[in-house]
Amino acid sequence: MPATFSKSALLLSLLLAVGQAHAASEPSPTALATRLGIPHPAVIAHRGASFDAPESTAAAYKAARDLGADYLELDLQRSKDGVLFALHDNNLQRTTDVASKFPERKDSPANAFTIAELKSLDAGSWFNAAYPDRARPGFVGLKILTLDEIIDIAQGNPLHKPGLYIETKEPKQFPGIERDLKDKLQDRGWLSPAGSKMAKSELAVGQGPGKVILQTFEKSSLELLEKEMPQVPKILLLWVGEGNIEPASKVTFAESGEKDKAAYYAKQQPKDKAEFQRWVDYAKVQGAVGTGPSAALTKGGDQSYADLVKPWMNQYTHDQGLLVHVYTIDEAVDFQKVMDAGVDGIFTNRASELLKFYKRPAAASVDQVLKNNGY
Ligand code: G3P
Ligand code: CA
Repeated sequence: MPATFSKSALLLSLLLAVGQAHAASEPSPTALATRLGIPHPAVIAHRGASFDAPESTAAAYKAARDLGADYLELDLQRSKDGVLFALHDNNLQRTTDVASKFPERKDSPANAFTIAELKSLDAGSWFNAAYPDRARPGFVGLKILTLDEIIDIAQGNPLHKPGLYIETKEPKQFPGIERDLKDKLQDRGWLSPAGSKMAKSELAVGQGPGKVILQTFEKSSLELLEKEMPQVPKILLLWVGEGNIEPASKVTFAESGEKDKAAYYAKQQPKDKAEFQRWVDYAKVQGAVGTGPSAALTKGGDQSYADLVKPWMNQYTHDQGLLVHVYTIDEAVDFQKVMDAGVDGIFTNRASELLKFYKRPAAASVDQVLKNNGY
């Protein structure tokens, strides 16, 4: 055997041994989640029960809570007069009647409106028009919610207290929002003291140390969240594209010739293995407890992105001692696929279906839960 080969072989064995020792020294995902007070696997109600009710409204959040979701997910923004509220899109066109109430400002970003103006909008009727088979008279006139109101909802059912899974949305538009969020959570008693005990049961996730999870796509926001709230679990959201994981191909959707975005995204992948690993490593170094990667959905659709939950990706993330919460999945075939690939929790618009899949079915149907809440 040539000397060079034996030196290389020795080096490789050493590297492998170091890697294995590192992986072995990390807790299992279940042990990590348990220590953090995060249910495993976790049911994260994406913008509330947003398949069944208008996203980010009281109907969606109350339904998700009463169905038994572990977390109410929300995208955090700040109004022109400084109030924290929940809305996914940058502007109000898709999910409100802004075009009829403020026609000249319909394209303005939501943060150009005061909270009184935001509260004057109907954030429910669009859903009835878009999804007539799920429409309800009670959705008409639903309001955009402040963070305070979502906290009230999370605390409002004595039998089930979900946690909050809060994304700083486009945080560069909102300088200081991480500090504002900390102040609000502190005021409302939602910042657990460091080292507090985990919840005794999943029903009490909203009362344990995993009661809040913070999430962001932005590295700078992750750093600020860590600075402001070092004791709160954080997730770095991952996708392939500008400002996040560098893609293998720079061909744009327009250039790709694909018929829809889902087909385009499904072909996207990280530039190479090392690029994916760099983002996971960054999350770890910045104090995150996990990553929130995208998934490619079997049926496609507008929430289908690059597959970032391949088994090797989840294994690498676990080897770094981090959890994987994948977004956003609604169908049993995809629940099974991502669970088989090793994820630790799922963002879903259909909390009722995911709870069924995890054999934790809700005590009441979606219809009943909505009726119980007056919708
Ligand atoms: O926050 C996770 C998931 O919600 C990310 O996608 O665009 O729905 O906020 P988005
Ligand atoms: Ca989100």
